Amino acid sequence: MVKFGEPGEAAELQEMTWAEPSPGQVLIRVRAAGAGFPDLMMTSGNFPLLGAPPFGLGEEAAGEVVAVPPGSSFSAGEQVSGITDFERGWGGYADYVYLRERSTIRIPRGMTDEQAAGFPIGFRTAYAGLVERAPVEPGQSLLVLGAAGSSGATAVQLGKVLGATVIAVAGSQEKVDFCARLGADHVLNHRTDDLTARIAEITNGRGLDLIYDPVGGDTAATVVKSIARNGRIAMIGLASGAPVPLDPMDILLRNYTVVGVLASPSDAQTEAAVWQRLTELAAQGAITTPVGAVYAFDEVPRMIARQSAPPAGKSIVRVAG
Ligand SMILES: NC(=O)c1ccc[n+]([C@@H]2O[C@H](COP(=O)([O-])OP(=O)(O)OC[C@H]3O[C@@H](n4cnc5c(N)ncnc54)[C@H](OP(=O)(O)O)[C@@H]3O)[C@@H](O)[C@H]2O)c1
Repeated sequence: MVKFGEPGEAAELQEMTWAEPSPGQVLIRVRAAGAGFPDLMMTSGNFPLLGAPPFGLGEEAAGEVVAVPPGSSFSAGEQVSGITDFERGWGGYADYVYLRERSTIRIPRGMTDEQAAGFPIGFRTAYAGLVERAPVEPGQSLLVLGAAGSSGATAVQLGKVLGATVIAVAGSQEKVDFCARLGADHVLNHRTDDLTARIAEITNGRGLDLIYDPVGGDTAATVVKSIARNGRIAMIGLASGAPVPLDPMDILLRNYTVVGVLASPSDAQTEAAVWQRLTELAAQGAITTPVGAVYAFDEVPRMIARQSAPPAGKSIVRVAG
């Protein structure tokens, strides 16, 4: 990316060279890359983890390892997927990219390139939210906003694995159907349903134990009103353009907790255990990357422009092969 602005002007194809990877990096030849709303935040200059351009776009990628530093746990020729070193400017919409070694997995048997490329961020974030930061207990009610999007669709699946009663929220009949296929117990349409009334009905007036919120804005403000005593809201993002508006006195008077969630890597041992659990669940078929639209490499600007009103599922860019 060369400047902030409309995706068609902000992104530019450039010739690059990649030095040998540094400790903590794995250099791969990219076959597919995970895409999504953060790309739009980056091109418009609203992404909090990055400064001014130039930088590469694409937070996750899958492909073949071509080089590793001495002492790496990976070796050339392995098929891997992982979170790119995007915070240092290396993005996955490229022939080659550095992955963060701690956030890299060997692709489980049976996973397609598209599924592998879109696996790491969504599921690592869902794990951070639903296991590490705001653990959800079996039988608790979990409401997932943006449930047909890449963060939401992974939280719906992991929430079911963890035994929660999952209430998915999406904005069209196509997305409602998509969430039902993912296994959500209930699906609400935020454009046509009375969310407050439906949540009261589903929870027998008890309210929500946990809200998983990658959306923010008015929809999040509405569902917060239905949070149960001792309930929690896990703040993931702001796909609506604004974070959930919260009132400290409301938090105090209604006894609920606000939990910030950023899926940044922890120590190596913790990360290894998290990725092992997630890859085992994927190998068992309990969780699957919710692949949505797949774009060709030269469609990256068009793909980014579409993220303001994305189709259901995880967008993927096919880079090679
Ligand atoms: N904290 C972390 O570690 C972390 C990790 C990954 C992503 N994120 C953040 O999470 C956010 C979402 O990313 P994503 O990749 O999941 O995006 P996404 O795939 O585009 O999904 C977002 C969903 O939000 C819904 N939405 C948009 N505006 C809405 C509104 N006003 N009311 C209700 N729903 C609305 C859209 O669905 P409908 O059409 O159904 O409305 C869309 O499916 C971003 O801010 C991203 O930066 C955070």
